[in-house]
Amino acid sequence: MNQHLKAVKISDKVYWVGAIDWTMRDFHGYQTQRGSTYNAFLVIGEKPILIDTVKAQFRDELLARISSVMDPKRIQIIISNHTEMDHSGCLPDLIELAKPEKVFASPNGAEALNEHFKISQEIIPVKDGETMDLAGLKFTFLEARMLHWPDSMFSYLNDEKILFSSDAFGMHLASSERFDDELDQPVLEYEAAKYYANIITLYSPIVLKALERVSKMGIELKMIAPDHGPIWRKNIKRVLELYKKWAEQRPTKKAVVVYDTMWNSTGKMAKAISDGLTSAGISVKVMKLRDDHRSDVATELLDACALLVGSPTLNNGLFPTMSDLLTYLKGLRFKNKIGAVFGSYGWSGEANRILKENLEGMKIPVTAEIQSKFVPTQEMLDQCFALGGQVAERIKEVVK
Ligand code: FEO
Repeated sequence: MNQHLKAVKISDKVYWVGAIDWTMRDFHGYQTQRGSTYNAFLVIGEKPILIDTVKAQFRDELLARISSVMDPKRIQIIISNHTEMDHSGCLPDLIELAKPEKVFASPNGAEALNEHFKISQEIIPVKDGETMDLAGLKFTFLEARMLHWPDSMFSYLNDEKILFSSDAFGMHLASSERFDDELDQPVLEYEAAKYYANIITLYSPIVLKALERVSKMGIELKMIAPDHGPIWRKNIKRVLELYKKWAEQRPTKKAVVVYDTMWNSTGKMAKAISDGLTSAGISVKVMKLRDDHRSDVATELLDACALLVGSPTLNNGLFPTMSDLLTYLKGLRFKNKIGAVFGSYGWSGEANRILKENLEGMKIPVTAEIQSKFVPTQEMLDQCFALGGQVAERIKEVVK
């Protein structure tokens, strides 16, 4: 047992007992350049309560942090807000070790945990909206289906006014600090946006309903404690506003030009198109797929109005990195975007058609297209510049 690892007291009755994953750089194809944390919380009521666990490989860290407060065998109640294994990975071990009186989860969670782990102990399903006295403390459980799994649940500790929000309001950011106000705010907002773009975007309609529900309930929030990244205590209003903004998917006067290239012909076109957009007063992000990760493209797209995609034709198809990106973006279901396609080719030139089909499949209307045979001439680059201006005008029509 590592005796140097300690729990962090976050309120009168609650300790953070999670794990810090400093070196994780990939989470389901999402590049996590700042690592992550798996947050678990120990609540000291008349009986000790554990909220969520951590990824299985961090079991010793979880147990060491709990042990800095009390013997983990004394845990009597476990609440599992989410079945995904970065939070439930140590649940079977904890049940085996502590033999708790009760384990709670959402109805879908109870079913999914059994399917994952074949847990011998009964998992008690809690009702949506149910308030329960647990070990002398009042908990309210809110189902958060599809935020981001069918089993996801929020647990609100009325006594301390803390919302344990599972993945929602989280971010992949490893840090020695536990609270939002101890960290650099622009970094936090960037990582929260990246998390939203890559994990939550497709559930945006559900986010809006959940925000409305929590607001109507009028519950006071002193802290939002997600399962990844820092605990929000100072900027709660701000993160709620950001979630509303991201969920509404309101576009801004911004375009993302994303491409890959073989001999830089498509690259030259991307540059000329972005110059056209910039000259017309549009904020532009240019991203080359062998240098920029798909998850960073998704992040940039969150508040953009236009997605311009460029690919050379390779073996009658798209450049592989572009196929990868389009598959990824399709799943995220961004809304309120307009599109354009471009690229170079040598003889067959199928790429533009495939790009168009992909964008239209994502309900992104293609407003402009251009294709260059072999290396673009100056005349072709002028046309690309003009195309940038044309897309800029469309953006200004959409974003007033
Ligand atoms: Fe962080 Fe859905 O698990």
